[in-house]
Amino acid sequence: MRSRVRITRWHGDPCYAREDMTEVASVLYGREDIRHRVQELGRAITGDYEGREPVLISVLKGGTMFLADLFRQIGLPVAVEFMSISRYGDAPESLGRVRILMDLQADLANRDVVLVEDIVDTGLTLSYLLSNLRARGPASVEVCTLLDKSVRRIAPLDVRYVGFDCPDRFVVGYGLDYRDRYRNLADILAVDDMRAFEDDPDVLVPLLAT
Ligand code: IMP
Ligand code: MG
Repeated sequence: MRSRVRITRWHGDPCYAREDMTEVASVLYGREDIRHRVQELGRAITGDYEGREPVLISVLKGGTMFLADLFRQIGLPVAVEFMSISRYGDAPESLGRVRILMDLQADLANRDVVLVEDIVDTGLTLSYLLSNLRARGPASVEVCTLLDKSVRRIAPLDVRYVGFDCPDRFVVGYGLDYRDRYRNLADILAVDDMRAFEDDPDVLVPLLAT
């Protein structure tokens, strides 16, 4: 049975709760905060790459919403490339090992590359990707991530552009998923009650397209 969701206000921010008043998730970064920050990042990239034509690389699938908004805020000619990868699971010995499922179409030799990510967590996936991309002879490689869970970092990384420094919470929306759903939430929500959420993964459905 699908529980109903009430939208309430809590400390000024919308808060989504079940009928039994258990708080399941709350807005961490609203759509307007995201829009402003993406605009600022676009301006920063525009300034830093003046006179050049960077290649923006997005890793499917989570980073694609961010890429779509970000690259319309960049006032330079840019190329867009996509890559698809799969992780080998969460076992310690396989951490950070990544298989490329779909590779780039462009040759990166002498290009200025900006890797656009939704979130950097441990950094293990990203550090593999960076060494893979650097081996292709680009002129430069920088990272632009919307969210940085910096407290969780295992692999030390230099992330040039960060949208928000994200607390150690599970987040969904604006490209970020829970089992492939909720990427299409317009806001980024932090899950406050992970158990309630796992018990009833449909709980946020009424918030889609709102
Ligand atoms: P890591 O930096 O190698 O640990 O992995 C980062 C990836 O983990 C991201 O690209 C996301 O797919 C996923 N991820 C990490 N934290 C979250 C979260 O809070 N919500 C949804 N996906 C997450
Ligand atoms: Mg990702």
